[in-house]
Amino acid sequence: ITVYVPRDSAAIALGANDVAVAISREAEKRGVEISIVRNGSRGMFWLEPMVEVATPQGRVAYGPVDPADVAGLFDAGFLQGGAHALQHGLTEDIPYLKDQERLTFARVGITDPLSLSDYLAHEGYAGLQRAIGMSSEAIVQEVLDSGLRGRGGAAFPTGIKWKTVANAQAAQKYIVCNADEGDSGTFSDRMVMEDDPFVLIEGMTIAGLAVGATQGYIYVRSEYPHAIAALNEAIATASQNGYLGDNILGSGKTFRLEVRMGAGAYICGEETALLESLEGKRGVVRAKPPLPALEGLFGKPTVINNVISLATVPIVLARGAAFYKNYGVGRSHGTLPFQLAGNVKHGGLVEKAFGLSLRQLLEDFGGGTLSGRPIRAVQVGGPLGAYMPQQQLDTPLDYEAFAAIGAMVGHGGMVVFDDSVDMAQQARYAMEFCAIESCGKCTPCRIGSTRGVEVIDKIISNDNRPQQVHLLRDLCDTMLNGSLCAMGGLTPYPVLSALNHFPEDFGSPAEKAA
Ligand code: NAI
Ligand code: SF4
Repeated sequence: ITVYVPRDSAAIALGANDVAVAISREAEKRGVEISIVRNGSRGMFWLEPMVEVATPQGRVAYGPVDPADVAGLFDAGFLQGGAHALQHGLTEDIPYLKDQERLTFARVGITDPLSLSDYLAHEGYAGLQRAIGMSSEAIVQEVLDSGLRGRGGAAFPTGIKWKTVANAQAAQKYIVCNADEGDSGTFSDRMVMEDDPFVLIEGMTIAGLAVGATQGYIYVRSEYPHAIAALNEAIATASQNGYLGDNILGSGKTFRLEVRMGAGAYICGEETALLESLEGKRGVVRAKPPLPALEGLFGKPTVINNVISLATVPIVLARGAAFYKNYGVGRSHGTLPFQLAGNVKHGGLVEKAFGLSLRQLLEDFGGGTLSGRPIRAVQVGGPLGAYMPQQQLDTPLDYEAFAAIGAMVGHGGMVVFDDSVDMAQQARYAMEFCAIESCGKCTPCRIGSTRGVEVIDKIISNDNRPQQVHLLRDLCDTMLNGSLCAMGGLTPYPVLSALNHFPEDFGSPAEKAA
């Protein structure tokens, strides 16, 4: 009998390791033979630790399981899929999961993340197998035709980026994976790295073949120790089995991969600061141009892509560009793994094709707020994303539709707030975040963010409010247009969206009480 207990750090944080020990002890005590597979998480965090049991009908889910529930589960015959208060039926039939379109996350939660044979048995390395037989130009064209755009947040077409690097002449080129996932409320990169690391390795290997790069680096934030461990183990396994190294799958082609750990600065997720950090220097933003595609790591042409972009490449190659392009709407092709966080009942990962509305995501999947109070605001796209009010919740999740209303889909993270939120404090928080995380290279951001916090404080305390509001708008305009990178350039989004959509919150405490 096979029992699945996730090894994903969200599940571990909720006690999955203790549950695995309790199950194994109980089985021993009762003399039943079981094998425990530490799978990835299905991404339904309110059910974690979620234990699954393989039955002839499929896997049956139980959760959230506490070690104290384990004896009762055995009594109820859970090893045969027996009924129990914590039982949710067949995992695949749980609506949250059933209604998703999992392409990038196709294997996540299903396989043992560190088992190469499990990966191969679930379409793993089918993309690389196909890419090996193709010319570099044909691989780049396939990615271009799929419509895949950068999933880190900027949505730049991945194929165009690759083409720029492929066309650059240099003796050495690099593939760098940006795994410094720093946005609040996001965890899709982490889940891929912990729960299906081979898919990222495969995607980077294909990128290497496509542009002629022989060395790759994965820059992972230090807050992700489980991801770093999983990647290192998977890289060692892939190398031992001919999927990385000097003679990939007998083709004579070379691609090597190493993990590098960041030291915990938000700005190191900005691509040029990341490259500086990777070179062993302080993480300060470089001026662009030159683009990293032409002069990147150690001055060489470099593909730098987010985890999700690279982890989506294998399915594009395995199933073909047209298959992937058929998902989505407008110019937003394919799927995005959305991440529901904050005050939401059913927080977790939802991979869906672009085009559903924000409301569908928050209500049909998220189940509304955890507090049960009405949703007042949702911050989409991380700490630099706009706060969206109720009247914007019907916006389709589509890069262009969001941009049209001054918001951004970004990396797909959503942080939900109920009607008890103070939006002036949220605006202040956004400005303060910028003041703390600014790399200090350019004036609008370095000084503007500190002045911005002061101005917001004056607005709240009604110290010449109309003039201060004018000043804040002026300052935001300067930051938006004068900052060197997205840190200072996007901070006005949350600040101004809070001010524009929730002006009633910008009164003093006494005024609000009145
Ligand atoms: P950008 O628009 O300047 O660049 C996007 C990408 O396209 C870069 O990699 C750039 O080098 C590349 N590029 C642009 N023109 C090119 C060309 N002609 N040829 C080849 N490559 C080209 O955006 P940026 O500053 O890199 O990213 C900003 C975004 O980052 C924001 O929109 C935000 O959503 C996202 N972000 C994500 C975070 C996360 O944790 N995932 C954290 C903070 C921000
Ligand atoms: Fe540094 Fe801020 Fe300027 Fe970006 S906008 S380069 S983080 S000072």
